[in-house]
Amino acid sequence: LAHRVYITRKVPPEGLEIVRRCGRVKFELWDSDDPVPRDELLKKVKGVDGLLCMLTEKVDAELLDAAGPNLKVLSTMSVGFDHLCLDELKKRGIRVGYTPDVLTDAVAELTVALLLATSRRLIEAAHEAKTGGWGTWRTLWLCGYELANSTVGILGLGRIGVAIAERLKPFKVKKFLYTDVAPRPQLAEMINAEYVSLEELAKQSDFLAACCALTPETQGICNRKLFSQMKKNAIFINTSRGGIVNQEDLYEALSAGQIAAAGLDVTTPEPLPTDHPLFKLKNCVILPHIASASYTTRNAMSALAANNLLAGLRGSQSLTRHHRAQDWREKGHTQDG
Ligand code: GLV
Ligand code: GLV
Repeated sequence: LAHRVYITRKVPPEGLEIVRRCGRVKFELWDSDDPVPRDELLKKVKGVDGLLCMLTEKVDAELLDAAGPNLKVLSTMSVGFDHLCLDELKKRGIRVGYTPDVLTDAVAELTVALLLATSRRLIEAAHEAKTGGWGTWRTLWLCGYELANSTVGILGLGRIGVAIAERLKPFKVKKFLYTDVAPRPQLAEMINAEYVSLEELAKQSDFLAACCALTPETQGICNRKLFSQMKKNAIFINTSRGGIVNQEDLYEALSAGQIAAAGLDVTTPEPLPTDHPLFKLKNCVILPHIASASYTTRNAMSALAANNLLAGLRGSQSLTRHHRAQDWREKGHTQDG
């Protein structure tokens, strides 16, 4: 008997092929680039054995109840899993797959790009160049901050944090610091990073990059208190989840010059409404959640999500990482450790 599967989006071709080639799966998919409406999703999941979803779908008791007792595996095409109610999944014995590792390079590259775009004011500068602001060469016009001799702080040291630091090191960063729920000596050793408290991280960092998972512990952790401890020249970068930031506090810190600038790939909500005050600030660069958006990586994520789905349907424990989400949450708040 074929397994019934629902896929909540038009997934990249590699992943789709894997599901298609599997003879024992009968799948239906929401054939669109946009998320499936919730009411449609609640109808479509009825009786399925497997569900492959995106980070845009909240997987909670309501959805799992709508799916019913056949559901064996939930595979998300994302490294983040704050959209999953893991307790509800665990209670029902549903296997969970996610996509660590395959996006580490893409996310680290984008984080570095966003950091440089923010610190060297690239978006603002390009805008000036084409809108008439470029009157002449001026000594301190559009000056920013450089990485050479700087201290870089990493909030949540997992593989993504390590990959970011490895890329920043050739820019002659002087020192890497990190904080996490506990020291992570093996990862820290790879980049020669020193473990400090969150307060010390704020106080010492010239660049503070957040790459932690969103959990109850990290919700709103970047708030007024943290920003007030940071240097006036500090650049704040977030490529994890918008929920770790108190955006009102960030707005205040940026507009009062308490920190120099922020680069955000993630916000609350997503999309951030175009009339949001943060969009009015020149010292805030906002991207539409594209950290993993390379063709290679999105295809690899779809393939891993598809393989996790099939392995979960087979009941296999070996081929996938599908149990790690739960383990990992129990260990701490690092995004991808
Ligand atoms: C992207 O944010 C992801 O979680 O994969
Ligand atoms: C993954 O969630 C990322 O975009 O950092």
